[in-house]
Amino acid sequence: MSEYGLGRSYFRKSVCPDCGEERRERYIRHPFPLPAGFKKGEWLLSDCACVRAARRDTRSVLDNILIERSRHPLPVGLRSKTFKSFQVDELNRSAVQACEQFVRNFEKITGGQGILLLGRSGTGKTHLACSIVNSLYPKYSVLFRHVPTLMERMRYANVDLEPLLAADLLLLDDVGSERITGWTAERLLIIVDGRLTSHKPTVFTTNFATQDFEARMGMRLASRILGSNLHLLLKGPDRRLVRHGL
Ligand SMILES: Nc1ncnc2c1ncn2[C@@H]1O[C@H](COP(=O)(O)OP(=O)(O)OP(=O)(O)O)[C@@H](O)[C@H]1O
Ligand SMILES: [Mg+2]
Ligand SMILES: [Zn+2]
Repeated sequence: MSEYGLGRSYFRKSVCPDCGEERRERYIRHPFPLPAGFKKGEWLLSDCACVRAARRDTRSVLDNILIERSRHPLPVGLRSKTFKSFQVDELNRSAVQACEQFVRNFEKITGGQGILLLGRSGTGKTHLACSIVNSLYPKYSVLFRHVPTLMERMRYANVDLEPLLAADLLLLDDVGSERITGWTAERLLIIVDGRLTSHKPTVFTTNFATQDFEARMGMRLASRILGSNLHLLLKGPDRRLVRHGL
């Protein structure tokens, strides 16, 4: 069973042809008898440098995947929404160009001016806003929040506003669609105003027309969102319906 003989030793040695390190093989007996046909035990081989390196690599790949997954600012379903996957046509071209310019000049934005993406449902507002996020991440710290979800969460839990204020870019998706109360408007005002005073740009998407802002979210929030951002109107069909042939 071994060059040293099973009777004398349950060990044997071999040398890895790749790294030259000696590997010890140890014979481990099964702790209980197995039916006929099974071996009485197993030879276990100690690691050599190659095995250790391979194990380290696998572990670091797995670690990176986990870190990557947990840190990415966008939910999984929105990570593929990029400028590349966005079809440009006559109805959205100028908005796309403005968003690309925003990304190119991001470093130079000093006054906290952001973008307000307006338009009906399915015209690509969220897709375009995510394209900005995907272009700036990971060079910049970017956060995405769906406003109705954020507001709902704030009702039940203590949400730390600090990261929302500190991010280089914050994407607030679907602003105005949340169930508006004085309290939610106030929370949003803290975020929006806080970012403005520290000159950090925010990208907003909304289904509402600018003239409905004040009624939806109150004068103070409306005036800040309308006054400090470039308004981009996305026109065109509802692509969710188009895709399903409706
Ligand atoms: N120009 C485009 N090119 C490719 N895909 C698009 C384009 N516009 C929209 N889509 C796709 O259509 C779907 C709806 O777009 P999106 O979610 O961006 O709409 P929205 O304007 O945010 O709508 P809502 O107001 O309902 O939130 C998405 O899957 C998006 O990727
Ligand atoms: Mg949207
Ligand atoms: Zn080896």
